[in-house]
Amino acid sequence: MYGMIHRAARTMSIEVLGEPGWNALATASGFDESDFLSAQVYPDPRTLALVSAIANETGLSVDGALHAFGRFWINWADKSAYASVMRMNGDTLVEFLSNLDRMHANIQRVMPETRLPSFEVVAATSVRIDVLYRSERTGLESFVAGLMEGLLDRFGDTGTVTHAPAPDGVLFSIMMARV
Ligand code: HEM
Repeated sequence: MYGMIHRAARTMSIEVLGEPGWNALATASGFDESDFLSAQVYPDPRTLALVSAIANETGLSVDGALHAFGRFWINWADKSAYASVMRMNGDTLVEFLSNLDRMHANIQRVMPETRLPSFEVVAATSVRIDVLYRSERTGLESFVAGLMEGLLDRFGDTGTVTHAPAPDGVLFSIMMARV
């Protein structure tokens, strides 16, 4: 994946472990500056190795780290150079989810080597949103769940996120809490 993702993961680790903790992790697991070039594309196993090293050091499972990273990513994106892209992507959670593919497609213009997922809102009511996630990658469901929880927070909503395999991808269901 693009180094931009590695950089965000490093920022999250520094927030959790502090600079010295991060430096120790990086040295022990063989990551240096050459792994954090924003515009460089790294093989997915390298990205996963980074997540695993962070999981190890923070006492989380790999899925736990992916989940935390999903939540973190939403906050990070809101403060990044892409803040305006995030702001313009929708005023409600459903609208935002419905526009995600268009947003990623715009991002792909500047990062042509991305292999981006797709999100299709297949049903939405005031209490439940079903989103079909499709990707060439596998194993990122916890990341997606964390992203969706981050989005719930971002829109001031509360709810729970579950997922189940579907014939054509993975179906995420967001159950909105009645307040
Ligand atoms: C402005 C904000 C965002 C930017 C700049 C961005 C950019 C990216 C980039 C560069 C990748 C890596 C693709 C690759 O290297 O092949 C990626 C992957 C991904 N993005 Fe986004 N993204 C943003 C927001 C979101 C949001 C809000 C979601 C919420 C669902 C999301 C879901 C994902 C997922 C799940 C992946 C993993 C790839 C996969 O499943 O195959 N992204 N994104």
